Amino acid sequence: MQSPAIDGDRLWSRLMQLAECGATAKGGVNRQALSLEEHAAWRLVIGWAESAGLAASTDAAGNLFLTLPGSDAEALPVMTGSHLDSQPTGGRFDGVYGVAAALEAVCTLAEAGVKPSHDLVVVAWMNEEGSRFAPGMMGSEAFAGMRSLEFIRGVRDAVGISVGEALDAQMAEFSALPRKRLGFPIGAYVEAHIEQGPVLEAEEKVIGVVTGIQGKKTWEISLLGEEGHAGTLATADRRDALDAFSRIAQRMYREVGGDDPLVKFTIGRLRVEPNAPSVVPSRVVFSIDLRHPDNAVLDRLGDALERICKESCAPCDVELKRLVSAPSNEFDSNLQATIEQSARQRGIPSMHLLSAAGHDARYMAPLCPSAMIFIPCRDGVSHAEHEWAEPAHVTAGADVLLDTLLTLCGD
Ligand code: GLV
Ligand code: MN
Ligand code: MN
Repeated sequence: MQSPAIDGDRLWSRLMQLAECGATAKGGVNRQALSLEEHAAWRLVIGWAESAGLAASTDAAGNLFLTLPGSDAEALPVMTGSHLDSQPTGGRFDGVYGVAAALEAVCTLAEAGVKPSHDLVVVAWMNEEGSRFAPGMMGSEAFAGMRSLEFIRGVRDAVGISVGEALDAQMAEFSALPRKRLGFPIGAYVEAHIEQGPVLEAEEKVIGVVTGIQGKKTWEISLLGEEGHAGTLATADRRDALDAFSRIAQRMYREVGGDDPLVKFTIGRLRVEPNAPSVVPSRVVFSIDLRHPDNAVLDRLGDALERICKESCAPCDVELKRLVSAPSNEFDSNLQATIEQSARQRGIPSMHLLSAAGHDARYMAPLCPSAMIFIPCRDGVSHAEHEWAEPAHVTAGADVLLDTLLTLCGD
C-alpha cells in the first residue's frame, strides 16, 4: 500500500512541548529518570497516544508502552521508541526524538485507519542516560533479562533515593496504567535517534542506517584514604585520596586515552570527600566511561585501567565497581536493508554507519531483529543544551520509520 506521510509540523510541535518538561535556562533540558519532569513528559505522550486510540501501559521496570492493537493475535508485536530522560545539561532531541517519532508514525497509521497485523508498541525506556541512577539503560536491560529488577531497584541517586522508591512513586502517580509482563515477546525493534556525531552532516546524508553500536565499559571507582588537618598532618604521613586520584588519572589519560583516535576515554564525574578546603581528602569516587569499536582492544584497555588503579593507589586503597561491559554489536542485516530501501523510495539520501553512542537497541538486539535510524544533528553536538536537529530531518526520519514499521507488519 502507499504509505501515509507523517505530520511534520505536529511532530516538531510535540518535540518542543516535551522540551518544556525540564527546560533549562540555556534552551536545553534536564529531565532525569523517574523525576517529576519525566512524569510531565509521560502525561503528554500518554495524552497524545490515547487521543489516537493507543493504549498506555507500563511494567515493573518503569518502561512506558503505547500500543496500537494489531489484527492478528498470533503475530508478535513490533516495537519502536527510545527514552524520555536526559543528561543534566541535555538537549531537545536525544532520546525524546525516538519516542516522539515513533508516536507520530504509529498515530499517523491509526488516524489513516490502517489496522496493522501486528501490535505496534511505542516504548519509552526507563533511565537510558544513567545520570541520576548509574548505570543507564536500566529499563531495557531489565526488560531483556540482562539485569535483575532487584539490582536496579537498589541503585541510589546522589541524595540517597533508590530506583525502587522512585519507581514506586511513579507507579502511584500512574496507578491507572495496566502492567505488562517484563520481557513480553517482541518480533522486531526499531529505534530512531539523532546521530550525536558529525558523520551524516559531513557526508550530506539525511538518514543513517545504523550497522551496530561500539563497545562500552563503565566503572565507579572509589579511592579510600584518611582525613586529616591540612596544616598539621605531615605530607609523608598523608593518605590523600585526591593525590592518588591525580596520579591514577594522569596515567589513564596517557596510557589508555592516548594515541588511538578510536579510543573514547572519559572521567565525567568526580566526588571528593569531605570536600572541605582545610581537610586532607579521605575519599574520591569517580566514573570511567570507555568505548572502542574493537572488542579485543576494549577488553585490553579495560584491563589496563583496572591495573593502573591497583598499581598507583598506594598509600590509599581502591574499590572497583564494574557497571557496564557491553561489547560492540551488529544490527539485523535484513532490517538495515528495509530502512535503506524506505529511504531510497522516499528519495532521502542515506548511508550506513556505526553508532558511537550507546542506545537501548543494544539490549533489544539479542531478543529480536533490531536496528536503528539516525538523523543528523547540528555540528554533531549532543549531551549539550545547544543540541539541535533540523525540522526537515526530524520529519524524514519519522517517515522512514513509518515505512519500516509497515514493512515489518507485512502491510
Ligand atoms: C548514551 O546516552 C551514551 O552515553 O552513549
Ligand atoms: Mn539517547
Ligand atoms: Mn544520551
